[in-house]
Amino acid sequence: GKGAAMVTAVAYRLAEQSRQIDQILSEFRLTTEQLLEVKKRMRTEIQNGLSKSTQDSATVKMLPTFVESTPDGSENGDFLALDLGGTNFRVLMVKIRSGKKRTVEMHNKIYAIPLEVMQGTGEELFDHIVQCISDFLDYMGMKNARLPLGFTFSFPCRQTKLDAGILVTWTKGFKATDCEGEDVVGLLREAIKRREEFEMDVVAIVNDTVGTMMTCAYEEPTCEVGLIAGTGSNACYMEEMRNIEMMEGDEGRMCVNMEWGAFGDNGCLDDIRTEYDRSVDDFSLNPGKQRYEKMCSGMYLGEIVRNILIDMTKKGFLFRGQISETLKTRGIFETKFLSQIESDRLALLQVRSILQRLGLDITCDDSIIVKEVCGTVSRRAAQLCGAGMAAVVDKIRENRGLDHLDITVGVDGTLYKLHPHFSRIMQQTVDELAPKCNVNFLLSEDGSGKGAALITAVGCRLRKELNS
Ligand code: GLC
Repeated sequence: GKGAAMVTAVAYRLAEQSRQIDQILSEFRLTTEQLLEVKKRMRTEIQNGLSKSTQDSATVKMLPTFVESTPDGSENGDFLALDLGGTNFRVLMVKIRSGKKRTVEMHNKIYAIPLEVMQGTGEELFDHIVQCISDFLDYMGMKNARLPLGFTFSFPCRQTKLDAGILVTWTKGFKATDCEGEDVVGLLREAIKRREEFEMDVVAIVNDTVGTMMTCAYEEPTCEVGLIAGTGSNACYMEEMRNIEMMEGDEGRMCVNMEWGAFGDNGCLDDIRTEYDRSVDDFSLNPGKQRYEKMCSGMYLGEIVRNILIDMTKKGFLFRGQISETLKTRGIFETKFLSQIESDRLALLQVRSILQRLGLDITCDDSIIVKEVCGTVSRRAAQLCGAGMAAVVDKIRENRGLDHLDITVGVDGTLYKLHPHFSRIMQQTVDELAPKCNVNFLLSEDGSGKGAALITAVGCRLRKELNS
């Protein structure tokens, strides 16, 4: 009768709806062939970044870091470190002791960088940084120490030595004026001078990937790769000097900051980017730039999810077709929320209550869909990151003429640390795409601060050797 017809109609509509939802998400589900293709393209871009004839136009810049060895345990002394460019800005005091019983002791304080400072003038930004150092020195009672300082500055810098780095371009949430094209160490030294309150010996500028690699290598000598899966996404590794064509000399190795976040900026990933990726990019601080990073890292995953949810709502599959003000708010899904939503230990009702606390008026059926969207987007991120890493470790293996390579990758970043599935999926992907490598990911607790201190220690030693 009529009732049965209505039930059939509803059932039909639901089936059709779930088919359409699946169709939206299917674009995010990459096949092994596609991932192998990503690996291959990354390999091409790595080569472009290293070769003299292509490096100027290369998207993956492969920047030399002037770090030529991993720590050997002889590092010693008291250092100050700054860590700018991740989730938090921190000032740290690091005491490294060499000898039979090596120890590293750290004290640190987290400081906020207000949005208007991140996106104000360069002078304001560096004055703020120096203000925080001053506060920290007071807090530690060390205003008169003139300690050597390592500056972890997690943006692309063209280095000419350990203590000089020209900012190529801001990435992530930063956009302070008058910094791009300038030597960041110079900007810091000038700000310290302006304040006329204390002196500081800036010894090294360090990318967070490099700091992370060095921290891990201090405990585990097979660590020759660093990875950040956090607010941004990037990697570094020990490359053969003979392959780094912009550097003179063919002996030994140097750590290269890949700046792989810019992979795809020449359009080479366009076939796998979705309309949601394009829209996240269009409304970002740096449209057209860091396209791979925008598919892989914490700062953007929530935004991809939000764009998909908006589209599904428009199509009437979610939130009873009503796009709320909350859903229109950029940046509502931080990494920590995605991580909670995707946790297998949470019942659906708890997922719902997380979304309600965010201000979304949501039913239980909606929660199922939202959770699936989050899972699909973060799985793709982990796989893409794994495909990039597969290219790196295979390159290292070939550099060394090996059939098989055992290697450790030092990792840090909120996505890696907080997300319930990211690390496992990335590992599976690397294992599948680089079967001749045995890749061991090692979490580097507090990697960038400690690593900056270790690099500063080496820098101080080299300086003394030069002067004697
Ligand atoms: C961005 C920066 C890069 C950094 C990464 C992780 O990609 O450009 O330098 O390593 O974020 O913080």
